[in-house]
Amino acid sequence: MRIRIYWKLTLIFCSLIVLILTATYFYLNTHLKTYVETRIQDNLEKDLLLNKNLIDNELNQKINSADADDLANRIGESLGVRATIINPEGVVIGDSEVSKTGLAQLENHITRAEIQDAVRKGFGQSKRFSTSIRKNMLYMAVPLGKGKLIGILRLAIPLSDIELIESKMFKTISIAIIFAIIATLIASFFVSLMISKPLYEMSAIARRLATGDFSRKAIVHSNDETGDLAKALNNMADEINAKVKNISFEKAKLETILSSMFEGIMLTNEKGEILLLNPSIRKLFFIDSLTEGKKPLEVIRNNAIQEIVDRVLHENREVITQEVSISIPEQKTIMINGVPIVKDSVTEGAVFVFHDITELKRLEDIRKDFVANVSHELRTPISSIKGYAETLLDGKVDSEDNVKEFLGIIYQDSNRLANLIDDLLDLSKIESGKMKMEFDPLEVLPLVKRCVNVLEKTAKDKKLSIKLEIPANLSKALGDHKRLSQVFLNLLDNAIKYTPEGGAICVGAADKEKFIQIDISDTGIGIPEKDLPRIFERFYRVDKARSRELGGTGLGLSIVKHIVQTHNGQVWVQSTLGQGSTFSFTIPIA
Ligand SMILES: Nc1ncnc2c1ncn2[C@@H]1O[C@H](COP(=O)(O)OP(=O)(O)OP(=O)(O)O)[C@@H](O)[C@H]1O
Ligand SMILES: [Mg+2]
Repeated sequence: MRIRIYWKLTLIFCSLIVLILTATYFYLNTHLKTYVETRIQDNLEKDLLLNKNLIDNELNQKINSADADDLANRIGESLGVRATIINPEGVVIGDSEVSKTGLAQLENHITRAEIQDAVRKGFGQSKRFSTSIRKNMLYMAVPLGKGKLIGILRLAIPLSDIELIESKMFKTISIAIIFAIIATLIASFFVSLMISKPLYEMSAIARRLATGDFSRKAIVHSNDETGDLAKALNNMADEINAKVKNISFEKAKLETILSSMFEGIMLTNEKGEILLLNPSIRKLFFIDSLTEGKKPLEVIRNNAIQEIVDRVLHENREVITQEVSISIPEQKTIMINGVPIVKDSVTEGAVFVFHDITELKRLEDIRKDFVANVSHELRTPISSIKGYAETLLDGKVDSEDNVKEFLGIIYQDSNRLANLIDDLLDLSKIESGKMKMEFDPLEVLPLVKRCVNVLEKTAKDKKLSIKLEIPANLSKALGDHKRLSQVFLNLLDNAIKYTPEGGAICVGAADKEKFIQIDISDTGIGIPEKDLPRIFERFYRVDKARSRELGGTGLGLSIVKHIVQTHNGQVWVQSTLGQGSTFSFTIPIA
């Protein structure tokens, strides 16, 4: 059970006070009673002796029975006690409380203890019940007469008188004690309150501190230990406040760094349970649930990643770097760096950094492909040129027709080489942003017509019809004349190349909001669906052998895509195998 300090203090004070005052009461009770009784007895004794002396001097060794009663009455009246005079035989001859006539009825007093003692020892005292006046009495008796016993003087007071005095006295003491108890109770109540109030205030402030409320300060009431405690509490609050602010700032800093990091960060404890995941890693693995306390395998569902976590925590090496391929939620390649957090040779957890290197890998693959493709594309015409040139140099070719044919092949292949190198240079210029483009408003129809003119002969040779469906009110396009011509030439060249004899090619154009959309369709061989996403890649050809036969290198569409994108447009294709293809692109309206 919880008892407040205030009640404890009050209880202690009250118990102490009650204990002390009760002890005082009992002490006074016993000692005062004895004191009062002694005082009364002493006084009675003094009065008795004083009267004995007076009587002894006055009466000259003789007591008259007739005067004795008067004498007793006088003494009794002046002292306020019962006075009795007894003759040496024990007969009562005077009594202040008994009338003269009544004296005869009193029994002989010689056997009374105090009388016996007075006669024998010179002083007698006893407490007993008086049959004459029916009260408990204190008797004192002395013999009268100088040298010769002439009578006995006895004084008596009722014991009830002493008891009355005593009871009055104790009533006063009791009232005083009760008042003292009440006064000290009230005082102890306030003293307890005075001591406990600052403590209570301070405990309330400490509780607020625990909840992070530093706004209230302890009031320093006094310059004592409680005051010191209040000052210490205030200092502590200030220090905690400063530290909390500092920690909050550090935490906010860390959170900002973690959330703005492109890399995924995972922090685990020594058991491998997740303590923290930053937004990047959540995005990487599509994690939207609570993860604290879970194992990485439960959250990321990848055994390889869980193995890395276990290895980092158990092997305690500096850094573990490993590449991991994941297929859920997407096909990705991730480079993971894991470092254990070691303090005093004990692993307390680990930090893992996840780099998404999918794009890097893809670019690396493209680069490798590119180098292989370029080498291959260059080697084919060079080998051919070299071969034919060597044959000619050997002088073994005698027929002029053959010489002409060989030279023709050499010329064709060198043209191919020149085209290839031109295309590669164009591509690299566009990609590096070094290709100069001037964006001017231009009419689409005349531009298309000029391009069609260039290729008209080739189309005619293949008996292909080229139809233009370009409205006269078509908006002007904003673009670079030379580069847009290159786009049309490439797309028309493809349409002619990949459409069998007798086919039809159509160039259409229409305004689409802020853009002009151009569609170049043919009734050609079409493109298989699986190749559609890749045909804009460099060197990608559906049928390599056939394309090469037709003099293609697979760079045309790649150049088209880059030019269109530089114009802020888009390019796409729709195709059905065996039926034809439609290449579309957009360019902004001027
Ligand atoms: N209109 C089309 N019909 C069918 N297939 C096409 C068409 N246009 C392009 N392709 C396919 O896309 C591939 C890539 O075309 P791209 O223009 O980039 O290369 P290319 O024509 O082979 O060579 P280049 O244009 O460099 O001379 C072609 O090899 C061909 O397989
Ligand atoms: Mg082409």
